Amino acid sequence: MSNLVVCDHPLIQHKLTFIRDKDTKTKDFRELVDEVATLMAYEITRDMPLDTITVETPVATAQSKVLSGRMLGIVPILRAGLGMVDGILKLIPAAKVGHIGLSRDHETLQPTEYYMNLPTDATERLLIVVDPMLATGGSANAAIGSLKKRGCTQIKLMVLIASPEGVRAVQEAHPDVDIYAAAVDEKLNELGYIIPGLGDAGDRMFGTK
Ligand code: PRP
Ligand code: URA
Repeated sequence: MSNLVVCDHPLIQHKLTFIRDKDTKTKDFRELVDEVATLMAYEITRDMPLDTITVETPVATAQSKVLSGRMLGIVPILRAGLGMVDGILKLIPAAKVGHIGLSRDHETLQPTEYYMNLPTDATERLLIVVDPMLATGGSANAAIGSLKKRGCTQIKLMVLIASPEGVRAVQEAHPDVDIYAAAVDEKLNELGYIIPGLGDAGDRMFGTK
């Protein structure tokens, strides 16, 4: 069973409150999502392996740590996942970025893949799939399934808000994929929206409604 890590740092929780607020305008929404993505990247990289190297300080020789060769990839689910990429790149500027385009049908709630573009060495990287919302889990499962079909084996999922249903769906379909969320909300409504959630993440990020 995969781990569910709820990133409950006070700064993340504070910013998430204003992301949820319906009166937060597009510009602020985008900035807040970017900031929370940076803070969550700090949590998601907590177990990255380190090597010890020797470094000369001005006064002595020190044995000190550097990140070992493990390479990262960020894979946003379009559209809304795009809003989390730059925030992660601030901490991990050497990461490569792949893109998966998925659109959820408003009635059936089933995702359709319309775009996929991965770094050529994606199979050698630890991939962080990012999307603000994990609702039914259909989009995240399709994205992870698509990556696995292309030979990717090391995958983590990072979302802002998850529903209990979405967490269960990913854990059942992909027990090897750890999930990082800033919050797990109460439930899904009959339209497949997370309650209380934040509304439509893509529309709020890009001002399309
Ligand atoms: C939203 C959201 C997720 C998906 C979550 O995207 O950003 O990708 O729905 O729902 P699920 O867990 O039930 O699959 P949407 O399909 O609305 O596309 P958009 O980002 O282009 O608005
Ligand atoms: N997609 C969203 O953008 N919001 C939800 O609450 C559910 C799916």
